[in-house]
Amino acid sequence: MSASRPAANNPNVQSYCQLFYISDSQQAQIERLQALIVQHQLPIVLNTEQLSVKLTQKRRQQLSQTFTLPILVLDQKDKLSWLSDGLSVAPEWDKLQRRVVSAGRKSELLLQAAKVTADSRVIDATAGFGHDSLILASTGAQLTMLEQQPLMALLLLVEQQRMSAQPNWQKLMSRLQIINTDALSYFATLQADITNETKAVDVVYLDPMFPEDSYQDSKTGKGAKVGKHMQALHQLASPPTLDEERQMLQHAQAIVRQNSDKQGRVVVKRPQLAPALANQPPNESWHNEAVRFDGYF
Ligand SMILES: C[S@@+](CC[C@H](N)C(=O)[O-])C[C@H]1O[C@@H](n2cnc3c(N)ncnc32)[C@H](O)[C@@H]1O
Repeated sequence: MSASRPAANNPNVQSYCQLFYISDSQQAQIERLQALIVQHQLPIVLNTEQLSVKLTQKRRQQLSQTFTLPILVLDQKDKLSWLSDGLSVAPEWDKLQRRVVSAGRKSELLLQAAKVTADSRVIDATAGFGHDSLILASTGAQLTMLEQQPLMALLLLVEQQRMSAQPNWQKLMSRLQIINTDALSYFATLQADITNETKAVDVVYLDPMFPEDSYQDSKTGKGAKVGKHMQALHQLASPPTLDEERQMLQHAQAIVRQNSDKQGRVVVKRPQLAPALANQPPNESWHNEAVRFDGYF
């Protein structure tokens, strides 16, 4: 294969993806996928190929080793996954159903930190697999989800489309707006448009990448196991530099300050023992054994 993995944090490069599907009956689904790529102007070119053999774990490993370009798989249930180093990863929002239904400030540290209410407008500037966005949106808030990697944005858009077909998810899905963009350019556009009242933002949420080897168990101080979603993301995106961290935080703070009605806040997710983003001390922190949410207001 000639194309290589997309350069980390370089989303402007047109990326080729290999899409494997199982049966001819999935053509309509593939067309919907292509339509999403066009509609959202994702710089993705799909090479499609029907799989002739069953997708066992061994086959997944083989495919991951053979192809240098990212692999997407449309399985028997029409679920789209990204095959990263033999691991199938997908947003799998349905698996969060119980958490989303019972989410509240008692059960979710993120909601304690973000103080989101049903009339809040929230920007999740680093959407990833969208799990934290779902928790934030469970409150009734409107979520703008920014994701710089086109492949991740595609997975999110496909998941939103898939879940919108389920009646009990429709309302929540309609509150999510997914945009494939770099957060800093999006912030710059918002800041240039201070007169537009509809753009008042209550919360900006940041969960940037963190060096893979620095997740620590707070009790033992040793390296903690990273979940498969995060392992996969490390293939695609790199942690920000200190300068990028500073810019991210400064712009996010400027965006929430533009909200003249309410006191907005920026919330940053960090591994529990990690230094603060851009080394800037927060006003308040909430933590458990694994993660910490730093609030700036
Ligand atoms: C740690 S993950 C976020 C995980 C997410 N909170 C979740 O619940 O799944 C960070 C994500 O942010 C994206 N990202 C990092 N910097 C970004 C930026 N400047 N603009 C937009 N997306 C960014 C990365 O591509 C990656 O998908």
